[in-house]
Amino acid sequence: MYPQTRMRRLRRSEGLRRLAQETGVRPESLILPAFVLSGKGRAEPVRSMPGVVRLSVDLLAERAERSQASALLLFGVPGSGEKDATGSAALRDDGIIPSAVRALKSVRPDLTLITDVCLCAYTEHGHCGLLTKSGEVDNDATLSVLGRVAAGHAAAGADMVAPSAMMDGQVGALRASLDNSGKSETPIMAYAAKFASSFYGPFRDAAQSAPGFGDRRAYQLPPGNRREAIRDALLDEAEGADWLMVKPAMAYLDVLAELRGATRLPLAAYQVSGEYAMLKHAAAAGAFSERDVVLEAILCIRRAGADAVVTYYAEEVCKWLAE
Ligand code: PBG
Repeated sequence: MYPQTRMRRLRRSEGLRRLAQETGVRPESLILPAFVLSGKGRAEPVRSMPGVVRLSVDLLAERAERSQASALLLFGVPGSGEKDATGSAALRDDGIIPSAVRALKSVRPDLTLITDVCLCAYTEHGHCGLLTKSGEVDNDATLSVLGRVAAGHAAAGADMVAPSAMMDGQVGALRASLDNSGKSETPIMAYAAKFASSFYGPFRDAAQSAPGFGDRRAYQLPPGNRREAIRDALLDEAEGADWLMVKPAMAYLDVLAELRGATRLPLAAYQVSGEYAMLKHAAAAGAFSERDVVLEAILCIRRAGADAVVTYYAEEVCKWLAE
């Protein structure tokens, strides 16, 4: 106790502080989400996410050639004419994501490509799965479709698939489908603890994936339930997930920290669209230094237990770290 113990001894100089630094941010720990359009030559800024641009495959490949990010998480954004009741465009070999994976691998084979596996951007109704006649999301009928989507992504060359539909049994269904299609080496990053969060608002604008009716509370986790989140995440591990993810990140760091203690799998956390928008808008209003606050936010997400962080800031952070 004071005065024998003085915590400030550890903090007296930059060198001493660095020696005792427990957590850091490395460019290789960051995953950049990318919204991919169909067609050619298309670049559409996302109004609610300043700095984020949806790109068609050709422009995405061009952008990737000079990208400093080392991993991408790909989301397909089909046009309204490509959507139907069952999300069939998600199953096409020549669909947006398989095409993007092939194009990116041909220009940047070193880029790690992770693909989002969900139906919400591909269905007219905007829900993450197929619907029953009475308009509920049909869990079991959705599983085989998600399995086929993932196998298609893996066949195109995806390094990892990331199921985000929050259907029960989806990780097991993906594992079986990958194994049966000769892709037993393709890992699964499970959106294991994905909450029904209003922080996804800007994403639904970016991916044009807002539910046409109702909301996602019948399949995503209740924001107030930590025990249920851990239980759900551990089921994904039991079904064969190779990575677990917590999403959103900053308002859910307690879940991330508890999950860190409950599993030995690597963990990812997703700093979602609403978190990005908050930081962007506040920085633009002069509230703080964008660089300093973003680096702190990501550092703290890592401290809470994330090995990898999915962030729309990945490109900028890589630049800042290289300065
Ligand atoms: C699709 C999906 C969502 C996000 C990632 N995958 C949105 C949702 O569940 O409505 C959100 C990502 C973000 O907000 O940045 N199921």
